[in-house]
Order: sequence, then C-alpha cells, then structure tokens
Amino acid sequence: MATPHINPNLIFLIFLSLLAITSAHVFFEERFEDGWENRWIVSEWKKDENMAGKWNHTSGKWNGDPNDKGIQTSEDYRFYAISAEFPEFSNKDKTLVFQFSVKHEQQLDCGGGYMKLLSGEVDQKKFGGDTPYSIMFGPDICGHTTKKVHAILSHDASNHLIKKDVPCVTDHLTHVYTFILRPDATYSILIDNEEKQSGSLYTDWDILPPKKIKDPEAKKPEDWDDKEYIPDPEDKKPEGYDEIPKEIADPDAKKPEDWDDEEDGEWTPPTIANPEYKGLWKPKEMKNPNYKGKWKAPMIDNPDFKDDPDIYVYPSLKYVGIELWQVKSGTLFDNVLVCNDPEYAKKLAEDTWGKQKDAEKVAHEEAEKKREEESKDNPVDSDDDEDADDVEGDASDEESSADTDEDGAASDEAHDEL
Ligand SMILES: *[C@@H]1O[C@H](CO)[C@@H](O)[C@H](O)[C@H]1NC(C)=O
Repeated sequence: MATPHINPNLIFLIFLSLLAITSAHVFFEERFEDGWENRWIVSEWKKDENMAGKWNHTSGKWNGDPNDKGIQTSEDYRFYAISAEFPEFSNKDKTLVFQFSVKHEQQLDCGGGYMKLLSGEVDQKKFGGDTPYSIMFGPDICGHTTKKVHAILSHDASNHLIKKDVPCVTDHLTHVYTFILRPDATYSILIDNEEKQSGSLYTDWDILPPKKIKDPEAKKPEDWDDKEYIPDPEDKKPEGYDEIPKEIADPDAKKPEDWDDEEDGEWTPPTIANPEYKGLWKPKEMKNPNYKGKWKAPMIDNPDFKDDPDIYVYPSLKYVGIELWQVKSGTLFDNVLVCNDPEYAKKLAEDTWGKQKDAEKVAHEEAEKKREEESKDNPVDSDDDEDADDVEGDASDEESSADTDEDGAASDEAHDEL
C-alpha cells in the first residue's frame, strides 16, 4: 500500500494563497443585495427645492444578470446624494483600493459617474455638493470636451485635481473603475482591470510644491550657441542671379491690329511673372557645428518644498458617497469596494463585471435593435430619446453650468479644468 504523498511545493503554494486571502482587508463592500437600504442613507439635500432625484434599485434596461442589482439615477434634471458609513480607518502604511462599477444607460450629455470617500463625522442626511470629501474618483462626461476620469485628492482642506488626462469610457455598458493609492505615494487608475494611468502623488498632483525647480538665478551664458542651423558660408550666390527680372514682357502678346501708334501711344506688351525668377537669394542652411542644444536652466532643490511623508494618508476615512448632478438620468452604480488589496478588488471585478460583460453586451445590442425598430414604427417619439448626443452636445455644455454653480468648488474646478 502506498502512503499518500503530498508534494511539499503544493503545500507551500496553498499556504501562500491562504496568506494572500487572509491579508486582504475589506473596509466596505456593497453589492446592493437585500438590506442595502439599511446601509445607505439618502440625503435630504435639494429636497426642499424638489430637485432631489430618486434612486432605483435595479439591474437596468440591459444587463448580464437581471438578479444583480445596483442603484440607478431615475429622474432627469436632478441632484443625487447618498452615502454609506463604514468603520473608520486610516490608510497609513496600507494600500487603499477604491473601486465600483458604473453604467450609463442614458445618452449622457452631462453627468458624473464618480464616487467620494469622506472622513470624520458627516451628517449623512445633509450630505451634498458642499460636504468636504477626501477622495473623489470616477468618470465625468460633459458635452464634447469633458470625458475623463476624475481623481481629486483633498489635502489640508483644498482639493487637488490629477494633472494627467485619463479618458473614461463613453459607451452604455458597465465598466469598473479602480483607484489604488500606495504607502509609497504611488497610484494607479484602472478601468476594467486594466491600468490606464499610474505615477506618483508628488508629480501628478500639485499637493505639495515640486521637489525640484529650475534655478531662477541661472542665466544663459553669453556664448551659448542655440541656433541649430546656420547659413552655409560655402554657398555662393550664382553669377547673374540678381539680374533675373521678376516680370517679363509676355512673349505671346501681340500688338492689336487696330493699334494706332499715333493716337494710342507706343504699344507695350503686358508683363507676366518670369518663370526663371527664383526670389531673393538665400544661402542654404547647414547644421551649426557649434550648436550646444537648447539652453535649460539647471534644476535645483525647491526651497519651498517640505516633504510630507504622509502625503497619501487619510487618517479617518469613514463614508463612501455618491453626489451628482444629472441632466439625464440612467447612471447605475454597483459593487462598491473599499479595501487594502488590489488582488481582492481585481477578483471582485472579474466575478461580477467580468462574468456578466458578454451577456450584457448582447442584451444591449438587442435593446438597441428593439429601440430602432420602435422608432421606425413611431418616428415622432424617437427623437426625444436617444442617439442625439452630437446634436445636443452644445446645449448640454450650458447645462453643465448649472452643475458647476450648484455643485461646490470641486466639481467647479473639475469642469473648468479642461
Ligand atoms: C427602475 O428601473 C427599471 C429597469 O430599467 C424600470 O423598468 C423601472 O421603471 C424603474 N423604476 C423607476 C421608478 O424609475
């Protein structure tokens, strides 16, 4: 009888993967299953003015799994604010992962699909555009110019926009947006588990003044030759060049038969441009042998830079919230995650969006077909609905000003920035 033999490598692998699973810490995870309403508080912001939009718990008009619901904005021209609380934590010495999925079922002219992380104590019933936040992240579309992923970081009570451009997806399918912030102050932005942007908090935001600056005292040396090309001294003007006239008498012109020299004066033929004429002579250009390149001031340490090793730290994260203005509703959020493990987040995305995306695409195509057929049968109804984003782009740019006026400084900055 053979004794069972277990490969020690296998045991080690199992041990490693257990370690990986147990080290993932999930601070908040919301799949919007039953009971979600106990965790989320709809704000009363804009209610008095009848401008607070209602959320719909649904999987939307097309989806990859009708039982997997999220929350969707359901009324046009409305403000939306909703938030959920989690046990307060600090991301010091930890990786922070903030992830969720968004689907825009409407022809989105102007509207956000971003979420916020908030710190400290927030009166959730009053959560709105002016409520300070720590991180705002996610797609924003407005007119033709703004189609980007926001990553706004608050530091010392001011909001800093990412300086790099990160385009967002503009179709009508679910996409997963992930923001990863690491203790070495590096970050990554992922869409559908693919990295779209990465870098450092030091360089990609103006949170701190830059570490190095151009030496303001430095001057270009007098003898610095920064002309890349010079006239070729060997090139000589060809003999007789200056004698070539610009215009010549038209050789084809003939004196009219009825021309009377006595009455009409002496006949002179009209002039035409001389095909031989080559303009003012200029010597050929040649590479300057003394060219030193463009002069650049040397970089020096910035005296205004004071390092803050905690540049990435949010010591009291406690809420996740959605606060939006929507011209057209139909934005659906799902699978909100705040954790410390990018692998866990990746797996969640694969298990939800990844498994459903193909079926969702098919469902969307079918819905499109159906809509097209209906609009053929019923052409009057068709134009208030869909496929008008090109035409309506300009109008919606104006709508965005409603957003920026009402929406507090951050969104204001956000839209203005482009
Ligand atoms: C909620 O969404 C579903 C699916 O799109 C839709 O049929 C329903 O009318 C919506 N309900 C409200 C109140 O908007």
